[in-house]
Amino acid sequence: MSFTKIAGTGSYVPERVFTNDDLKQFVDTSDEWIYTRTGIKERHMSTGEDTLDLAYKASLNAIESSGIDKSDIDLIVVATVTPDFAFPGVSQLLQAKLGIEGVTAFDINAACSGFLYALQIADKMIKSGGFHNALIVGAETLTRLTDWRDRNTCVLFGDGAGAMVITESKENNIADIITGAQGDEDMLLYCKNPDLKDPEVNAISPQDHIHMKGAEVFKFATRIMPKTVQDLLERNDLTVEDLDCVVAHQANQRIIDKSARDLGIDMDKMFMNIGKYGNTSAASVPIAIDEAIRTNFLKKGDKFITVAFGGGLTWGGALITL
Ligand code: ACO
Repeated sequence: MSFTKIAGTGSYVPERVFTNDDLKQFVDTSDEWIYTRTGIKERHMSTGEDTLDLAYKASLNAIESSGIDKSDIDLIVVATVTPDFAFPGVSQLLQAKLGIEGVTAFDINAACSGFLYALQIADKMIKSGGFHNALIVGAETLTRLTDWRDRNTCVLFGDGAGAMVITESKENNIADIITGAQGDEDMLLYCKNPDLKDPEVNAISPQDHIHMKGAEVFKFATRIMPKTVQDLLERNDLTVEDLDCVVAHQANQRIIDKSARDLGIDMDKMFMNIGKYGNTSAASVPIAIDEAIRTNFLKKGDKFITVAFGGGLTWGGALITL
């Protein structure tokens, strides 16, 4: 059996920046409230670029940094809750746009944990021997599902994409991945698809928007993220001292602060970029990993855990040596 490693990473966010002050034209809020409750100062919003376009630009960056010829990529997995079409998937359109004909390509949905799920699937497919080089993408245009009159949610989200190329390796760099889910029967976090269509009426229902019970999601997040990190450490006979850094899903600064406190990890080891992007759902983790690498926060040989939680409810974590 071969092992796997990260060969390259990339990311892309749309040009338009929307600050906390910009949101005041739509809802009764303030920069002070948003920043102190979430750590967010601004987010990027797509103006015309679809999820596919963001995924494509992040993928080009990742493929370039990997040094792997795109014709050697034999698997594409895209994590998204905002595909441009019900079908074809972003992954298949991405395949065509990249000019990688005939390879396996599919989308998955595990909300903000989606990238960890995609990484686990691709990692196992390579380790099983059937595939060699995988392009894994988290891409979202979450602002298309935003209710711009709901101050409880509209201040939180942004658009963007992150990508990673993983490849076969002699060393066990992507050492362990955990994912899990618990059905959200209490509907803490959801966005409904169009209603069933009655053929007698054939009415087209409007697109729903994101609904969230923020305080409940906060409690879930601050329980599951430390638990996932702890589980990964324990089953690999490691302690937090063995980690050079943690790259957590960028949903809320206070969620990450509390998780780090509970784990006994210094905030200096927690990579943060939520201030610039807000919560970009499945794109958050790969954007953060890419930035951590490009800014030298994460260096070759560093051991780190990346961890996420999200709608579903879902969670995931990975123990990786760069
Ligand atoms: N500006 C000003 N006031 C606001 C705003 C706003 N944008 N939003 C809410 N408020 C008000 C509320 O109305 C409430 O006022 P009230 O007391 O008069 O009713 C007050 O602020 C406090 O609201 P809370 O909801 O108690 O604020 P809280 O401290 O819980 O913070 C937050 C809210 C930031 C949403 C927090 O609960 C949180 O981060 N939860 C987790 C969210 C998250 O990570 N979601 C993941 C989604 S990812 C995915 O899968 C798509």
